[in-house]
Amino acid sequence: MTGPSTGDPAAAEAMFAPAERALVDPLPVGDAVADIGPGAGTMTVRLAERVGPTGRVYAVDNDETMLELVRDRAEQAGLADRVRTLKHDLDDGPVPLPEPVSLVWSGACVHHALSWSVAVTGLAGLLAPGGVLALGEGGLPMRCLPWDVGVGRPGLEVRLDAAHNEWFTAWFQDRQGVVRQPRGWPDLLRSAGLEQVTSRSVLLDLPAPLQGPARRVALAELAARVGRAQQFLDADDRDAWTRLLEPDSPDWLGRRTDVALLTARTVHTGSAT
Ligand SMILES: C[S@@+](CC[C@H](N)C(=O)[O-])C[C@H]1O[C@@H](n2cnc3c(N)ncnc32)[C@H](O)[C@@H]1O
Repeated sequence: MTGPSTGDPAAAEAMFAPAERALVDPLPVGDAVADIGPGAGTMTVRLAERVGPTGRVYAVDNDETMLELVRDRAEQAGLADRVRTLKHDLDDGPVPLPEPVSLVWSGACVHHALSWSVAVTGLAGLLAPGGVLALGEGGLPMRCLPWDVGVGRPGLEVRLDAAHNEWFTAWFQDRQGVVRQPRGWPDLLRSAGLEQVTSRSVLLDLPAPLQGPARRVALAELAARVGRAQQFLDADDRDAWTRLLEPDSPDWLGRRTDVALLTARTVHTGSAT
């Protein structure tokens, strides 16, 4: 699973936004739309621009801190009157929206739900006839470093992907009430009764040398991944990552000219009849 994950979600979302906009901007919007799991609200604000002055964007999250960020972002953009926040957990049943919506966008959120199938069916149920559910899920993990960074064994980042996947799997499976879904997102959309199901992906391709905010985001995302995957990395790899991510270290990645950010974002869509 991919998605911005650092302590500064707004900065991370800004980096990934062009890829997500390329996938979501072509989808039609009506007067009312929903952003489920909006994070810091980058797409919420984009949707608020698109629905126009009489439109409404319902931003739904189980974390009040995120909803505060969304309200702040909407306020700064002068679009607060179009954004309505709602605290709700996808595991607590269908989102109680006050009206059907023409587009439900949910980026990197549904994979947190205990049952992806129940969550997708609930989101499909929010749609007006002809409305579209768009799930930003899957994609590819980030690739930032050369295969051999000269610190630790070569292949460090590939092993981080594997360790991070172990962490996610353990997190996913260890929760009480979790339901495995041995099928892909398009099948989940079809099972929820949606039609014209398709998937599209775009690359986010920021070549080396990364500068300014892009470099900060890449290093912060790597640090977040290493932090979560710690227990699944061997001692040599943990040591190598410490040397690479610690600003006081002579090996700090922040001084290198070969750090890039390459990843892919995928959006799966389906229409209500
Ligand atoms: C990784 S962020 C994604 C942010 C943004 N949509 C994006 O694509 O960058 C996941 C978001 O989903 C929210 N979230 C996670 N689990 C949730 C749940 N069970 N119900 C509602 N929201 C949830 C988080 O609080 C966070 O705002």
